[in-house]
Amino acid sequence: MRNVVLLGPPGAGKGTIAVRVAEELNLFHLSTGDVLREEVARGTELGKEARGFMDRGELVPDEVVLAMVRERVRGRGGVLLDGFPRTLAQADGLAKFLPVHVVVYLAVGKDEVVRRLGSRRVCASCGAVYNLVTQRPRTPGRCDRCGGELRQRPDDAPEVVAHRYEVYERESRPLIEHYARQGLLVSVDAARPPEAVVADVIRVLRS
Ligand code: AP5
Repeated sequence: MRNVVLLGPPGAGKGTIAVRVAEELNLFHLSTGDVLREEVARGTELGKEARGFMDRGELVPDEVVLAMVRERVRGRGGVLLDGFPRTLAQADGLAKFLPVHVVVYLAVGKDEVVRRLGSRRVCASCGAVYNLVTQRPRTPGRCDRCGGELRQRPDDAPEVVAHRYEVYERESRPLIEHYARQGLLVSVDAARPPEAVVADVIRVLRS
C-alpha cells in the first residue's frame, strides 16, 4: 500500500482532510501534532519536552519527532502522514525508514488559514475539530461525536499563529520543492469546502 504525506501551512485543513481520506481509503492516519498533544495531556517525558516548543509555536526537535514516527509506523504500509515531515532533515530521516509514494500539498493562502485558526474549536475529550464559521457543532460548545467540551487550542492565539506561519515558511515550505523535484508532489486547491478538497485528494490517491 502507498504511503502518503499531507503537506500544507497551519490551518490548511490537514487534520480535517486526513481523517476523512484515511477512513475512505483505509489508511493509517498519523498526525504528529495529535500524538504530541496526547503526550502533553498524559504528562509523559516526551510531552514535557515538547510542550514549551508547541506553546510557543516552535517545532519540536527533529530527532524527537523522527523517533516518535519511526516507532509508530514500524512494519506498516498505507500510512497517511499529517504534519510530518516538516523540515528537510525530517524528510531525509523519514526516507531511511519509510518510502514516500505521493505528497499532497494543500494549497491555501495566509489570510484564509489565519481566519480558520481564529475560529477553530477542538473537542477536549476526543480531539474532533470544528469551526465556528464553517463546521459548527450541532450544540454550541459541545462535540457532536462524544458531547465533550469544545476549546480553543493554546497555540491558536493570534500571536502564536503568526509565529507558526513564519516557522512554516522558513522550515516547511522548502519541502514543496524537495518533493516536486522527486516527482512526488500533487497540489490540491484547499481554499474550497472540505468535501471538495476530500474528493480531490481521494481522486489523486486512487489514480
Ligand atoms: P499540528 O497540530 O500539526 O499543527 P499545524 O500543522 O499547525 O496544523 P493545524 O493542526 O493547526 O492545522 P490543520 O492543517 O490540521 O487544519 P485543521 O484540519 O485543524 O502541530 C502543532 C504543533 O506540534 C506544532 O506547532 C509543533 O510545535 C508540533 N509539531 C507537530 N508536528 C511536528 C513535526 N513534524 N515536527 C516538529 N514539531 C511538530 O483545520 C483548521 C480549521 O479550519 C478547523 O477549524 C477546520 O474546521 C477548518 N477547516 C478545515 N478545512 C477547511 C476548509 N476546506 N474550508 C473551511 N474550513 C476548513
